[in-house]
Amino acid sequence: MIHPENALPQGAPAGLARTDFAPDFVWGCSTSSYQIEGAAAEDGRVESIWDRFCARPGVIRDGSSGALACDHYHRWPQDLDLARDLGTNAYRFSVAWPRIFSGPGAKPNPKGLAFYSRLVDGMLERGLQPWLTLYHWDLPQYLQDRGGWNERATVHAFAEFADVMSAHLGDRVKHWITQNEPWCTAIHGHLDGVHAPGMTDFKTALQVSHHVLLSHGLAVPAIRANVPGAQVGIALSLHPLRPASDSAADRAATVRHDGLRNRWFLDPLYGRGYPADVLRQLGADAPAVQAGDLEAIAVPTDFLGVNYYFPETVADAPASLPMQTRVVAAPGVPRTAFGWEVAPDGLTSLLKRIDADYAPSTMFVTESGSTYDDVIGPDGTIADTERRDYLAAHLAATRDAVAAGCPVKGYFAWSLLDNFEWAEGYLRRFGLTYVDFDTQERRLKDSGKWLRAFLGGADGSQRTGTHAGASAAYAPDAHQDRIKPAANSQQTSIT
Ligand code: FCB
Repeated sequence: MIHPENALPQGAPAGLARTDFAPDFVWGCSTSSYQIEGAAAEDGRVESIWDRFCARPGVIRDGSSGALACDHYHRWPQDLDLARDLGTNAYRFSVAWPRIFSGPGAKPNPKGLAFYSRLVDGMLERGLQPWLTLYHWDLPQYLQDRGGWNERATVHAFAEFADVMSAHLGDRVKHWITQNEPWCTAIHGHLDGVHAPGMTDFKTALQVSHHVLLSHGLAVPAIRANVPGAQVGIALSLHPLRPASDSAADRAATVRHDGLRNRWFLDPLYGRGYPADVLRQLGADAPAVQAGDLEAIAVPTDFLGVNYYFPETVADAPASLPMQTRVVAAPGVPRTAFGWEVAPDGLTSLLKRIDADYAPSTMFVTESGSTYDDVIGPDGTIADTERRDYLAAHLAATRDAVAAGCPVKGYFAWSLLDNFEWAEGYLRRFGLTYVDFDTQERRLKDSGKWLRAFLGGADGSQRTGTHAGASAAYAPDAHQDRIKPAANSQQTSIT
């Protein structure tokens, strides 16, 4: 039964239904520790690179930090209730490494372990399958002080972290994601410097990318050794690309751009080593790779996590280092408030491309979402029609990829809650739930209500992985006209 407040817009022709997806399709929301937990100095948590970075004047647009964020560390029962009431059957979260290890050689912090143990139990009690990400960017600062991801020692520290977490939670957590978006760790963290630790050196960024991939390679066997039946994968930020024109120069630029954006990560994970054309382009900036590293990175996994936000339009730009490419704004396309192009068909083509080129046995959309400038209406509702349309359109795009033969087995919306959006602070709201950061009040947005109706959540009308109950039907294209390009539609790849 659909709760009256979940009634869908009139006139939306039937085009998408829960029953379009397999009964065992995984439905979830994604979150990450630094973006929601807060409690930065509690129960033995030590400083992370994000705490340090946020303290630098001018790097976070609103001058904020994740020190309080959504106070999820204390409010997690309510937040897991929200995830359950949406009708999702899985929940993706990350572990704050600085809650677990306080310094070199330190023993795991029992209070940190206990927090995640409680959280996992809370998920299981609510019928939410825990999907644990080990690294979503909050490196302990003491490791950064010793060189961070530029140092091989950090790879081994990560393997130990993976071992400890999987030994502790492996009886209950079966789904493991080693690294979230190595491209962002490497490039935003170490080349453009907009993310922690805020470095701007290309050679370092590439060495970091190698170490992050290697850390994945060492973590997978550690997790498998501790977790019978583990399903292990990595989540990559991937982008479909198109050339800015038909010119040979723009087409060649698109291949180069694809080299660092996508293939640099996918190729070694799928046993091909680093792409030769990219290595040629990098020259002396290429990372140091030791014997056995590539074999370790190519360790078999159970799934690929695909984080998708936007496609990119690429032009030749000989003066623009490092790849002599430039991302240009595609004209006349809808955009989110962030300026990111809204292109659900890009998700379909991306999934098809990955399937054709790398043939992962299983894929999950591990992040997909949008930010708009939400306002609470006089009646207390948040009419985020654009986000609702975005969500519906990307679900339809996922369905289309499955229909085309891609082994996509789940979809995680980014995000359950508005949260600390990295360099943008609290200025970008991505949640299905609105968070008032003064009062910590949560309020489900219309997009969340729509998903709840679609999945048959709340009221117990439909739970995990069954077709029982009504499914909301919706044609995502019906409201495309409401999505207007942002006035300042400069494309940006800052996430
Ligand atoms: C992704 C990140 C996630 C969030 C979204 C908007 O790149 O993984 O933490 O910031 O972008």
